[in-house]
Amino acid sequence: MSFSAAKRKRNQQLTNLKNRSVLLGVSGGVAAYKAVELVRRLKDKGASVTVMMTGAAQQFITPLSLQIASQNTVYTSLFQEPLTHISIPAAADILVVAPATANSIAKFANGIADDMLSTAFLAFRGPVVIAPSMNGKMYEHPVVQENLKKLLSLGIVQTGPDSGPLACGEEGTGRLAEVRDIVDTVVAALTPKDLIGQKIVVTAGPTREYLDPVRFISNRSSGKMGFSVAKAARNRGAEVVLISGPTALESPQGLTFRRVDTSDQMLSALRDETERGVSALIMAAAVADFRSVRPSKAKVGKNKIPLLTCTEDIVSCIAGGEKRPFIIGFAAETGKKLDRAREKMKRKKMDMIVFNDVTEKGSGFETDTNRVVIMDKKNGVMRTGLMSKDDVADAILDRYLKIKA
Ligand code: C5P
Repeated sequence: MSFSAAKRKRNQQLTNLKNRSVLLGVSGGVAAYKAVELVRRLKDKGASVTVMMTGAAQQFITPLSLQIASQNTVYTSLFQEPLTHISIPAAADILVVAPATANSIAKFANGIADDMLSTAFLAFRGPVVIAPSMNGKMYEHPVVQENLKKLLSLGIVQTGPDSGPLACGEEGTGRLAEVRDIVDTVVAALTPKDLIGQKIVVTAGPTREYLDPVRFISNRSSGKMGFSVAKAARNRGAEVVLISGPTALESPQGLTFRRVDTSDQMLSALRDETERGVSALIMAAAVADFRSVRPSKAKVGKNKIPLLTCTEDIVSCIAGGEKRPFIIGFAAETGKKLDRAREKMKRKKMDMIVFNDVTEKGSGFETDTNRVVIMDKKNGVMRTGLMSKDDVADAILDRYLKIKA
């Protein structure tokens, strides 16, 4: 069965910001210039963006830059167009304030409405994300912390600030969160929470099987698919543990991240988690298939080619254990070997398997897209088109919820 257009559309809405309208408030911190990049990344995900700027923000960056980036009118004054402080928030799905200065945070917390942004804040009903940015001492001031506490108690979501060198030359906590993390927070805030109460463990990336302290056997897995699954499950309200082999990817926020190296370490981290009870295990990791029979503690000479054996099959170990979760495995094949994937699902006692042909254009290793076939124990078969790995992740979770129901 192929994915219906409606279903695909819903999946796209879950992971990216297609058809979503973001109202972005920019207040007057030195990080205001990063708002241009933020607008671009939000638009990349399909959102339409309308910007409101405070007077101080306009000292750092011109409305024209944000008008060009957003391809929309930028609102800078309450008196620019009558009643837009009501109509613009009414049309928005989410309000994001980045950077949020101590002054704008104080106004929001105390109901002061003396400019376009602070007035629109009061008129808006919906999720609000704020990304504070200021000097570290200012951020730590009890008054700022009190104001933030008040906003968080109202359900407003805060992202950042990060620690590091600040524009004033000091080190501290006050840097605007990375644009990537702000976008992530916006997507999460707009995602329906249909996995609340579930603990989901995801494995990702390759493993390394050491021959000696210098050399190892591994594979081309980038970890992107597993990271997308972990983030999608987190966005949908699950408690997520991501167990990852070595990858170049940043550890995502809002989940427990366990970094491992070898397949032995991955198995023991998984045993540890399943002991405590897990709803679903999603094995996106490309566990290395071979390891040295006897890894050497010292670098071996070229003339001593190591003897190899197979690594332990992690999925089978967990599937045979006492506290067995719902298990979703992956089958990366070269060619349309669906039967092999089906056989693998049975042999490894999985409940679902996600097949992909790594030789297909846009699929498999290191790409940001994938095309998969999702099969389950009850002979259900679902094909996705070529879509982003984030969308594939949601398709897998949709299918999981349907099969488990
Ligand atoms: O046999 P193959 O490696 O193709 O199986 C792929 C599936 O099995 C993936 O879900 C992978 O994470 C899992 N696997 C495992 N332990 C291994 C090898 C693969 O759990 N040693």
